[in-house]
Amino acid sequence: MNNNYNNNNDEFYKIVDEVKEKADIVAIIQERIPLTKKGSNYVGLCPFHDDKNPSLSVSPSKHIYKCFSCNASGNAITFVQNYDKIPFMDALRKVAATVNIKIKATKKDLEYEKNKKYYDCMKDACEFYSFFLKKAIEAKPAIEYLHNRHLDDEIIDHFRIGLSGADEDNLYKTLTDDNFGHLPIDLVEVGLIRSVGNSKFIDCFRKRIMFPIEDLDGNVVGFSGRKYLPNDPESKYYNTTDTVIFKKGLILWNYHEAKEAIRKTKTAYLFEGFMDVIAAYRAGVENAVASMGTNLTVDQINVLSKVADTIVVCYDGDEPGVNATKRAIQMIMQAGINVKVVSMPDDIDPDEYINANGKEALNNYLLNNTISGLDFFYNQEKKNLDLNDINSIEKFKNSMFAYINMYHSQVLAEKYLQILAQDLQVSFEGLNKDFANSINLTIDLSSLDAGTYVATQEGYKVGVKEPERIAVRAIPDKYLEAERQLLIIAYQHIDKAPEIVKKLDYQYVDEGNQRIINHLEQLYINNRAIDEEEINDKLEQDELILIQNILESHEVLPQVAEINILTDQVRKYSYDRYIKNIASKPNVTHEDIDELIKYGKKTHTIKKRDINIR
Ligand code: CTP
Ligand code: MN
Repeated sequence: MNNNYNNNNDEFYKIVDEVKEKADIVAIIQERIPLTKKGSNYVGLCPFHDDKNPSLSVSPSKHIYKCFSCNASGNAITFVQNYDKIPFMDALRKVAATVNIKIKATKKDLEYEKNKKYYDCMKDACEFYSFFLKKAIEAKPAIEYLHNRHLDDEIIDHFRIGLSGADEDNLYKTLTDDNFGHLPIDLVEVGLIRSVGNSKFIDCFRKRIMFPIEDLDGNVVGFSGRKYLPNDPESKYYNTTDTVIFKKGLILWNYHEAKEAIRKTKTAYLFEGFMDVIAAYRAGVENAVASMGTNLTVDQINVLSKVADTIVVCYDGDEPGVNATKRAIQMIMQAGINVKVVSMPDDIDPDEYINANGKEALNNYLLNNTISGLDFFYNQEKKNLDLNDINSIEKFKNSMFAYINMYHSQVLAEKYLQILAQDLQVSFEGLNKDFANSINLTIDLSSLDAGTYVATQEGYKVGVKEPERIAVRAIPDKYLEAERQLLIIAYQHIDKAPEIVKKLDYQYVDEGNQRIINHLEQLYINNRAIDEEEINDKLEQDELILIQNILESHEVLPQVAEINILTDQVRKYSYDRYIKNIASKPNVTHEDIDELIKYGKKTHTIKKRDINIR
């Protein structure tokens, strides 16, 4: 029995259609803006652009609205969604309620209900910390600290900044009193208090400015506490670690607030820390989020890719920041999104910049100093180029080739080859020949454990390092994980199973996974109309158990759109293994290299992500 719609889209769309049809679109729009009757339709000032003459037309017979000026159009549900600025499901529910149709809970609703007590703990804690910052006597130095950093009261309110006091159990006592009535165990679970034996509890955050961290839906799920007292020996930030409701890799700080601005500009600014997001906000750049000083995750990019065409990476200019930027550029590129970079001058962060130069200067800087991901990459790689060192030249050349290849653009390639030829002081023609060869394969020299390749007369020789013998190697988790995600997709969208099998091309990581994915493909080929029940019926017991286990261990289910990324990832494993096999030989022959190239061609999509740029 389904208690949600997730596995049954047809039923869901039927209900959506029913709501659209039954809803009185005129009444629903009229509740929000005035309409006048004109023939069989109604007209009004369009709320989705700056309308002077009524250009919005509503057709009760067709159940739609359309603006003849800005082209906004849709039905009762989308009108409510866009006008009230709420998610589709909420709009659907609102409209459905007007015609007495009940919308079943989505998986997300159920998840929220299940964890509601935890969200409530966090919400109350957030309010308590805010209150404490405003009212407590001991908050005076904290307010001073914030004002000194140019975080005025408007900013404090907007970002719900608070304060944890010096007492060891202020929050614990307040949130468990009769007023709030939270259970200590729930507060422990979300990382707000901890037990110190004998049913004594103390607060986790003390003497810190509290920055709430919200999930993508705007629920407070964690805090980042910054020390502010002079001579506080503790570390600068103390953050909530992962809990039932706080998943660090899924957080994009400020996403809920920035979403509309990102959608409008189609651009998202990605910062390292929330202080930078606040600085951007002060400078009038509202389409800004932060990855919270962590490595950017695919999940985070996926979220942004739904609302943005371009991501502007603005990380710190120090070495870890530059490396993180390179990594981000690659990941964003691979997700098919345009990537740009803003490098702050003199290694200062946007927060320091705004305080030194003012709001307008930061606004200007962020908007007008973007360079393409490729330009950034080129400039960085060039810094390591030593024209007297043939290895350095090769390395530079190869990593640029691989990078240029990612763009699949002849025009762009030519432009960069010209620059490259100049910088390397070689002819464009020669370089172009090399580049043409590189399209078939880019050998990832730096990723080879066994040492560097040196071209010699006899072929390629493996350099200094003692080659590592490959015994039975544990499969790195990331490959298995990618394969498992493909398995989930094949199970949940069985019509995609043949595509997955084809793309993997016998290059599986795990035999068990291979068996199930192939079984699913067979089931689909034998019966294209097969439904979930029949699939479960036909699968072996052990296969079902494995699928169930994998499903349960995945908070976020992989999407069909990720098939390419995932199959590439899985194939990269067998490719890596193959390369390492060759690399472990003391002498690599021409035959080996030919094999490698053949293999590389077979897995040609791999070259894109194959350069090791860390
Ligand atoms: N960070 C952290 N713990 C630290 C240092 C940093 O969790 N000890 C995380 C925080 O999320 C922070 C981000 O990394 O927002 C960026 O770190 P950093 O640049 O050092 O902090 P700033 O944003 O510059 O903060 P401030 O200006 O207050 O020093
Ligand atoms: Mn800073």
